[in-house]
Formats: sequence, structure tokens, C-alpha cells
Amino acid sequence: MTQDTVTLPHATADAEVAEFAAIADDPFTPPAGSALWRRDFLLGAATASYQIEGAVNEDGRLPSIWDTFSATPGKVLAGDTGAVACDHYHRWEADLDLLTRLNFEAYRFSIAWPRVMDEAGRPNAKGIAFYKRLLERLKEKGIRTFATLYHWDLPQHLEDRGGWLNRDTAFRFADYADLMSRELSGLVDAWMTLNEPWCSAYLGYGNGHHAPGLANGRYATQAMHHLLLGHGLATSALRANDPASAKGIVANVGRGTPDSPSEADVRAARRFEVQHNAWILDPLLKGEYPEELFALWPGAEPLVLEGDMQTIAAPLDFLGINYYFRTNVKSDGANGFIEVPLEGVERTQMGWEVHPDGLRDLLIGFSRTYENLPPVYITENGMASDDRVRDGQVDDAQRIAFLKRHLAAVDAAIAAGVDVRGYFVWSLLDNFEWAFGYERRFGVVHVDYDTQVRTPKRSAELIARFLARRRALDGA
Ligand code: FCB
Repeated sequence: MTQDTVTLPHATADAEVAEFAAIADDPFTPPAGSALWRRDFLLGAATASYQIEGAVNEDGRLPSIWDTFSATPGKVLAGDTGAVACDHYHRWEADLDLLTRLNFEAYRFSIAWPRVMDEAGRPNAKGIAFYKRLLERLKEKGIRTFATLYHWDLPQHLEDRGGWLNRDTAFRFADYADLMSRELSGLVDAWMTLNEPWCSAYLGYGNGHHAPGLANGRYATQAMHHLLLGHGLATSALRANDPASAKGIVANVGRGTPDSPSEADVRAARRFEVQHNAWILDPLLKGEYPEELFALWPGAEPLVLEGDMQTIAAPLDFLGINYYFRTNVKSDGANGFIEVPLEGVERTQMGWEVHPDGLRDLLIGFSRTYENLPPVYITENGMASDDRVRDGQVDDAQRIAFLKRHLAAVDAAIAAGVDVRGYFVWSLLDNFEWAFGYERRFGVVHVDYDTQVRTPKRSAELIARFLARRRALDGA
């Protein structure tokens, strides 16, 4: 469809048409006819507790595994920690005002488990009050609320008892979900149990790049099983306490492509995707682990008890998908794969390849593989760049093009029949990027960590303009 064929549902004054034509031309705005112009396609921004809140010793918050990990020399770039981060715990009101000024319609954030429960599992009223105030304010502002229960900040006292290697942690997680959904019932539009269990299990217990920093393949599969079990148990608590909300989980997914058309490389690429995607999605949507995973990791089968897989495969109202890049691989000559970085491709500050088609292809692939695939939200997508404020402005041209192209990939998946309901940019603010500390800036808003001054980048301004226009066209 061309720009001329756009129907303006209400006033069609010349000035309005001219303004529309002008913004349809800017480097962010989706083309006319794109599903992104529909008001029911939600556009939001995402954050996570440990990455923005700071205030790690306030109001009864207990230490998390990320406090411990980041305080361990050599684990995080430049020795950075989340102790202050964006100081959002104190600046949340201004941050929500910013969210409104940028016209975002939804906000995905996470609750810090160590803020809201003590070691005995008793509620911490001050911590809970923080999230209640936050949610109430979001509701007043008419912003849809997406709350993640676990974005990696496991209470350290639970790690001291084995963390996700201990089956009991799954039950403690369900207790936490039960408490939160009783306290916050009616304020949350969509609950997400876990953020990226792949990272918690594999980076946390399999290769040690993330907290708690253990490195053993068998640990990874067992930790994953307990994470997914915790998800299933938590989902039934959420359903019981907060029936009107949507319940889901967030998976990071990876696109693997073969370095050559050889059978061995094609199998290597498939195995890459089994390890990154099917390891999580098969148990959730088929009630079983993919057998090929254990061809890749012989002998790493987790201990699964009777009934676990039914608990894990409890129906989901939606699936959150986080997508960042693709990985080109070749066979390792045995059962696995080796990464072969492509030359001459566009990369971000993280070194990740910019590959929007991977998002489209994965979404279409999932809808074919899983006949019960629930509605999807892209719960994270974005990129890091070395953004600087110049004359009060941040021109993040690479991010603008990145977002536009990934939204176009989502649009293409929708056109191919995939039920995608919304998209959250990672992230609202520059923040503590885990093992990379503060060096990598993912925000659409720049944060000066010395002064805590926030400066919306040009990407944020263009998103805001698009959303204002979309709202106006809808007559809302
Ligand atoms: C994802 C995490 C998120 C952020 C982005 C860049 O894996 O969920 O917290 O760090 O990567």
C-alpha cells in the first residue's frame, strides 16, 4: 500500500494530510498499511528491577545473587554494580512522567523478589508498597501494566540453599507469586513469571557468565527444569488470585543459520535453535524436552518427577519473545555447533549482528511448530550504542533504523498470520547491562550516571511522535 491509500478515519483537513505525509517520511514511522498503525497493537517500553532501581539496602530489601555476583572482582566490566543504577527507586515518579511524555502505552517492569519477602517468606510491607504505588500511578496514567516476577534477582538466601538447583526454590517462587498476586490483584494487566529462563539456567549455572556464576552443563538443565516448574506452579497461583489478568512467560529466542548448505551445518543450525528455543518452548507448549537437546548434551537429562511436565505445560495466555540477533554456525564435527561470525555485516555495540529477518522467520516458524502457540508479545527488542549527549541531544541513528526494521519484521510476521499483539522496546532507560555494567547503553532515554539526568534520545522522540499521531488518527 502506498501513502496515498491511507484512510484518515476522521478529519481529513489538508494540514492533517500534510503532517501525516511529513512524518510518514521520517526514519522511524512505519509505512501506511502496516499493522503497527492499529491502536490495538500495543507499543511499550521495558525495564527490570536490578538494572534500574538501585536502593539495594533500603526498606528491608535483602541481597540478591546479582549483588553478590557484581561485588565479586572480575565478574562485571569495570566493577560496576546495581547499587545505584538509575536510582529509579527514588525517581520512579519522574520516570513514569517521562514514559507518559513519550506516549508509551504499556510498561513492562519487574518486581524484585528480595524487596518484597523476608527469609521466612513473610511479606515486606515497604517493598510491596513501592510496587503498589508504581502500578497505581501507571493505571492513573492509562498505561497498561506488564509485571515480570523474576528478572534474575534471586534472593541470595535461596541461592545459599542451592538456588535453582534446589527443587524447593520452585515452590518458594510459587509462594512469592501467590503473595504478589494477592497484594497486586487488579493492578496488573499481564503477569510474566520468568524473564529468559535460558539466561538464568545456561548463563547462570551452565557457563557462569551470569549470577550465581556456576559452570556445569548438568546444572544448566536441572536449573532450567526447576525454573520451568516454578513457572507452572506460579501460573496456577496467579490464575487463582488474579483471574482477570493475562499470564505468560518471556523467552529469549535465537536465530541460528548454517554457514554452508551442507547437511552437517544445517543440522548444527537446527541444534543451535533446539538449544536456544526448543529447550524452553517444547516443555511449555508440548509438555516434553526435545530429544535432540540430549544429543547435544549427552547425559544432561534433568531429574523430572511425575506430574512436572503437566505443571510446566499449563496453558499460557500469551508468550513473551525477546529477540536481539542471529548466530551463524557450522558443525563442530560431532553433535554440536561452532559459531562462525559473518564478515561485513552490521553489528551493534554488543557485537551482535543486526538481523531483523531472524525475528520474522522465528515467529513464523514457531507458529508452524506449535499449533497451540498463544498470542505473542515482543517483550524485548533493541540495541546498545555508545550514545553521547551533544548540545542537549542524542542522535541514535543506528537505533532508529534498528527499531524500524525490527518492527517491519514483526509486521511481516503478522501479515503471514502470526498473532503478535504488541512490542516493547528494550529499554526505556540506559541501565545496568549485567556483566557489561554501564558501558552498554540500550535506552531510548540517555542516563547520565553522575547526575541522573535523563535525556530522551532521538529514537524516543520519533516513537513519541508516531504514537501521538496514531492516537490522533484513531480519534482517541
Ligand atoms: C536481555 C535481558 C535484559 C537486557 C537485554 C539487553 O537478555 O532480559 O535484561 O539485559 O538482554
